[in-house]
This record gives sequence, C-alpha cells and structure tokens, in this order.
Amino acid sequence: METQLERVALFEILDRMKRIEADTILLVVDEKVWSYYKDRFDIDKISQFKKVNLWVAPRGEEAKRISEYEKCMESFLEKGVHRNAHLVAIGGGGLSDFAGFIASTIVRGIKWSVVPTTLLAMVDASIGGKVGLNSRYGKNLIGNFHIPENIWLCSDFLKTVSEEEIQSGLGEVIKYSFLSKPIFEMVKNRQPLEDIIQTCAQYKLDITRQDLRDGNIRKALNLGHTLGHALEKAFSLKHGISVFWGMVLVFHLFNNEKCLENLRVIKDSLNWKNDVPPWSVGSVPVKKIISYIEKDKKIKSNNKIDLIQVSDIGVPLIKEYNLIELIDKIEEVLNAPSRLTL
Ligand SMILES: NC(=O)c1ccc[n+]([C@@H]2O[C@H](COP(=O)([O-])OP(=O)(O)OC[C@H]3O[C@@H](n4cnc5c(N)ncnc54)[C@H](O)[C@@H]3O)[C@@H](O)[C@H]2O)c1
Ligand SMILES: [Zn+2]
Repeated sequence: METQLERVALFEILDRMKRIEADTILLVVDEKVWSYYKDRFDIDKISQFKKVNLWVAPRGEEAKRISEYEKCMESFLEKGVHRNAHLVAIGGGGLSDFAGFIASTIVRGIKWSVVPTTLLAMVDASIGGKVGLNSRYGKNLIGNFHIPENIWLCSDFLKTVSEEEIQSGLGEVIKYSFLSKPIFEMVKNRQPLEDIIQTCAQYKLDITRQDLRDGNIRKALNLGHTLGHALEKAFSLKHGISVFWGMVLVFHLFNNEKCLENLRVIKDSLNWKNDVPPWSVGSVPVKKIISYIEKDKKIKSNNKIDLIQVSDIGVPLIKEYNLIELIDKIEEVLNAPSRLTL
C-alpha cells in the first residue's frame, strides 16, 4: 500500500472522508484545532453515510501520553471497532504520532489517513509512517511504523498557526532546501509556500518509500538533527529552530562556507526571523550540550555516530565519526562562540 498525497481545500476534507472505503471512521482530532475548525466539519453530514466515533485529544505533545492512549483506546473499543474501520487524524505532529499509534495497534491495526495542520506536520511529521508515544524516560520511545493511506495537505489550517510554530516548520523547510535542488530553486525563487510544502512532503514521501526504517537514505533527513536535538534541550528551543542552528553548527564544524552562504540565501527567501544564535546569549552550556550528544539514541555500539553533511545543494553525505573526536571538535567551536555566526 502506498500513501496518496493530495492537496485539498478545507471544505473538501469531509468529502474525502466520505469516500473512504470503510463503514466506521475513528476521527481523532487535536483539541485546539477542533476548537477552531469544528464548525467546518459537519459530522452529522458524514454520519448519514458512516458511523463516526470522535476522540478529541489534548493539544499537541500532550496527546502522546500513555494515559491518553489508554483512555482513547478504551473509548473506541467500548463503542466497538472492527478491522475495517478507518482512522482519520486531524492535527499537528503530536496528534498524528498519537493517532497513528492508535491506528497501528487497535484490533492489531487498521488503515488511517491524516490531515496535518501545522507547517512542521505538513512537511515532516505526518509523512513516513513513524508513529508513537512518549515515555517518562524519553520522547517517542514507544512506537511503530504505520504508513497512512492518505495525507491530505490543506494549507488553510496555517492561518491559525502561531508565528513561532510557523518558524519551527520553516526550520525543516530550510533543511529540505539543502537536500533537494528543486526545493532549493523553489525557495530561492520565492515560489508560493503551498507549492513548497507540497514539494517537501513529496520529497520525504519518496525517501521514506525507498527506506522506511532509516537504514540508508532516510538518514539524510537527519541533517541538523543530531546536534540540533542537543541544542533543543540545552536552550529549550522549538524543534525546527534547533534544526536550523544544528545545521549552522555542522557547517561551521567542517568549514563549509558554501553551505553557510546558501543558508543566508534560503533563510532570507523564507522570511526566517530567528537570526540570533542561541549561543550568543549568556554563557554557553557546553557540558550540557555535550552530555545530550553523548546520550543520542543513534550512537552505535562501536562509539561511532553518523553525521549528515552537504557537499553541495542536493548532495547530502552520511559520514561516520568517532564520537570522542567529534565531541572534541564541538567543544572547541562552542568555546569560541563569537566565531559561530551566520
Ligand atoms: N513521526 C514523525 O516522523 C515525526 C517527525 C517530526 C516530528 N514529529 C513529532 O511531531 C511533534 C511536533 O509536531 P508539531 O510541530 O506539528 O506540533 P504539535 O502537534 O505539538 O502542535 C503545536 C501546537 O499547535 C497547535 N495547533 C496545531 N495545528 C494548529 C492550527 N492549525 N491552528 C492553531 N493551532 C494549531 C497544537 O494544538 C499545539 O498546541 C512532536 O511530537 C514530534 O516528535 C514526528
Ligand atoms: Zn525534525
């Protein structure tokens, strides 16, 4: 089964749900999104064609709790679910990770579709089948792979997304601009954001079709992430913002002037507003950052780690480093943060 990616207007989503070949729909929505958009979804209208069971999950990351999983699961099971039911998720990445995990486990797995409602979910989180929950021991430690049948991209939802969340999504768009030449060109030529979103989503879909389980080229999507995750925790940054600074750090570590120059072009074209490096304010928590890097889930048993670099636009390289040598290098640059400019 392959995921169908389609651009739709808000008013068309109900129609897409009607067309799903299932007599029951489990509709899982983000609480905040539902408060803004429920009037646009006339459930009674679909109920004439299908049984609809609605679950309104707490907003964003709050949905990805084990306790929330239990509540939602029991509610659906109480009403009766069979293998032919279809789950539809409407929300950002938090909601789609949660809802996809429900879809992957309820009665051993049912089909599902997703309507991503944040920029980050449109270009990244809703694509590629990684679904899951958080544990008190870490994020996304409980999870599965479960490919959605449909991704309905509807940029109308972006009108209510906060500027901070939009900037976070742009961090991922900037990442894609380095991985794909066509995306770089679209961004550089200031094409409409809706078109850029669709191309980024299609790019990730193509990559994950070839490599579902991060064995090979899917790793390239990690550009900016290994160091970004450590910065995200050390400076409490939004995810996409930390990916951006993770890229800046990688480009500086390996003196990649060409990429830094391209980064300036890309960020200006996308109206990027987070130009102040997190390490330029106060003292840099170098030890903290290093300790987060050392805890990275992706460190191999031989103490090596893959880091994604870019030799040219559209040419990512997966390079393996000795963790200790890499950390020495990172410590050196972070101890002279004034040189780490954009
Ligand atoms: N599965 C994957 O491959 C993958 C990839 C990247 C990120 N993720 C996950 O995605 C999550 C982050 O997702 P996100 O950035 O979309 O944030 P989110 O889902 O946490 O949503 C952020 C906030 O925006 C609100 N919101 C969502 N849509 C809105 C809209 N249209 N209008 C107004 N408010 C809206 C939410 O209620 C929430 O308060 C994390 O849990 C991360 O682990 C998953
Ligand atoms: Zn990311």
